[in-house]
Amino acid sequence: MISCGDDGGGAVEIPDFNMPSTLTFENQLSAYGIFDGSPSELIPNTEYHELELSSILFTDYAKKQRLVKVPENEQISRLQDGQLLFPNGTILVKTFYYNIDDRDPSLGKRIIETRLLVKESDFWNSATYIWNDEQTDATLELSGLDVQLSWVNSNGNTQSTLYHVLDENECIACHQSNATVIPLGTTLQNINRNVIRNGIAVNQITHLQTVGVLNSFNLDLAPTIPDYNDTSQSLANRARAYLQMNCAHCHNPDGWEIPADEELDFRFDTPFNQTGIAQESDEIEELIREGEMPFIGTTLLDEEGVELIVSYIQSL
Ligand code: HEC
Ligand code: HEC
Repeated sequence: MISCGDDGGGAVEIPDFNMPSTLTFENQLSAYGIFDGSPSELIPNTEYHELELSSILFTDYAKKQRLVKVPENEQISRLQDGQLLFPNGTILVKTFYYNIDDRDPSLGKRIIETRLLVKESDFWNSATYIWNDEQTDATLELSGLDVQLSWVNSNGNTQSTLYHVLDENECIACHQSNATVIPLGTTLQNINRNVIRNGIAVNQITHLQTVGVLNSFNLDLAPTIPDYNDTSQSLANRARAYLQMNCAHCHNPDGWEIPADEELDFRFDTPFNQTGIAQESDEIEELIREGEMPFIGTTLLDEEGVELIVSYIQSL
């Protein structure tokens, strides 16, 4: 297993981004009333709605639950340009956990951290909470730390790593555009997919509109992004979706200025000849194989992801 280290092995350091802070985070996660009943079961309170993404960020094989809460009588709205506007008071929640044994989830799980993005006075604030050993609550952690963990994967192999919990500036290295903090997964293209709700398959946008969280608009006009694990999709589409979700938050013209200056634009919608993929194909292959990219956020190689990108690059 190759370890990427905290800093990607490069000489570049993550700066203090000095983003405005418009609220004080609670010390304990339980103050947000996210879960009903025993917290370790991760059953969302009715005010929190589950979000499923078409394509996801790889984080050391962690399983993730994503939730959104908007204040009562408020809605997320789709703007003219297709962006989503979240009302002040919106809470986005992402919880990271591992099954003890992926072959049998009923054996239980270990929850590591819950990351929050909370919008207040038109700014997003970010923080993470570390779960206690009893799995009853989680505590605010702003400076990052490492957690030793191991689990059995679906092939029956024991995997282990020194999982890195990120500090606030590390969050912002990815979660920024035009020098302001932004959410990354909750885009229209990424939530426009089918999900099962109350035992029935439904488009997720339609469902969020039905429960009143999202304003109403014509679904026909909504863009989509494929699931990069869906092998019925073309290799190019899968690879571009992977690069969008694992690389484009840094490598796009409006991201953190150091990677934004690398002349790579990995956004899914960017025409191929403007992405820089052809010009930098050797570097891309080498850096992901060696675990140097993504720059932060992982300690283990995404074996399947690397295979996908290498096949794609070799097909060009
Ligand atoms: C390596 C880049 C990266 C880092 C570092 C990172 N995130 Fe994210 N985050 C993402 C991406 C990409 C998504 C959307 C994809 C997903 O959830 O799988 C996301 C999703 C989220 C979400 C769900 C809402 C949304 O944006 O879609 C929250 C909440 C969140 N991150 C908070 C944090 C916090 C807090 C930190 C720091 C402790 C952090 N993130 C660090 C890339 C990153
Ligand atoms: C958290 C931000 C971040 C993420 C996410 C990220 N990168 Fe980078 N990338 C950087 C930084 C910073 C540099 C410059 C590193 C240096 O100069 O040492 C860089 C440099 C590169 C370069 C080198 C360009 C050159 O000409 O030398 C390539 C290629 C690259 N990244 C590819 C990727 C790929 C592929 C992914 C996704 C698997 C990715 N990056 C994800 C921050 C990021």
